Amino acid sequence: MCPRRRVESGRNRAMSPILEVDGLMKSFVKKRNVFGLPAERTHAVKDVSFTLEKGRTRAIVGESGAGKSTVGRMVLRLAVPDEGSIRLFGDSILEMSAAQARKLRRRATMIFQDPFNSLDPRMLIGESVAEPLVLHTSLDRGGRERKVAELLERVGLRKDQIEKYPHEFSGGQLQRIAIARALATEPELIVCDEPVAALDVSIQAQVLNLLQDLQSERQISYVFISHDLALVKMFAHDVTVMRRGEIVESGPTEQIFDDPRETYTKELLSAMPVMNPRRRASRSKTVVTPSS
Ligand SMILES: Nc1ncnc2c1ncn2[C@@H]1O[C@H](COP(=O)(O)OP(=O)(O)O)[C@@H](O)[C@H]1O
Ligand SMILES: [Mg+2]
Repeated sequence: MCPRRRVESGRNRAMSPILEVDGLMKSFVKKRNVFGLPAERTHAVKDVSFTLEKGRTRAIVGESGAGKSTVGRMVLRLAVPDEGSIRLFGDSILEMSAAQARKLRRRATMIFQDPFNSLDPRMLIGESVAEPLVLHTSLDRGGRERKVAELLERVGLRKDQIEKYPHEFSGGQLQRIAIARALATEPELIVCDEPVAALDVSIQAQVLNLLQDLQSERQISYVFISHDLALVKMFAHDVTVMRRGEIVESGPTEQIFDDPRETYTKELLSAMPVMNPRRRASRSKTVVTPSS
């Protein structure tokens, strides 16, 4: 541990970030020449930096192709940056051994947009939720059964739904199950990649409310990837706006929405339907507000 962090770990510990991302770069090969060598590259992420504190939510917003998912994947070491550093819980994840990175899976995990794809269709719900417990804990069968029942109950499902298959559930229920699975190892960070984008608007608020309650209860930190500014406004404490791989601007949610500095952010906001005051009144009943 470097001296600076040791000093921070004293009185200000609660405020020191659990995630520090600095100067991330990532490109992909877009086209290869006749020899199979890279001919053209996509610069998916260019010099992206941000921090996230314990129990807080940082939204990453931007249009499709902005590089949001690539950033989320790199944070969990599911993709390796070409340059830059990522410190998670104080440790540099890029310098970790594979064994250390596996341990990290327990503390940091991901929820995806499409719960139909993130759950194995041939596995019973109970098995899917128990899987991380098998991989990352020493709980025996009885312990796993109790934990799975408790998790499903917490996300609003019934115990007897353990012995059903994914196709027997609605999209909203499946996302709750995916959340139960993500919670199994008691993570401190969850990267949520468009977690409600595939759901009906009426169900979106319920799932976001659940995520927010879990955050208050367990001090979970979220990286919340979304293209939906109305949801971001209600859900996030801080916002990072990305465009074509780069950060356009970053700041507390209030500042980004009430006093955006950059033209691109202003354009994004002006395209947001909820900014119309007549609609805002009806929307605000169904959406959540960030707990600070
Ligand atoms: N595995 C990959 N291989 C090649 N190109 C990729 C890969 N992942 C992402 N990209 C490209 O990187 C850019 C950013 O993608 P992504 O991070 O998925 O953006 P977003 O999540 O904001 O829609 C896009 O141009 C995309 O096509
Ligand atoms: Mg994406």
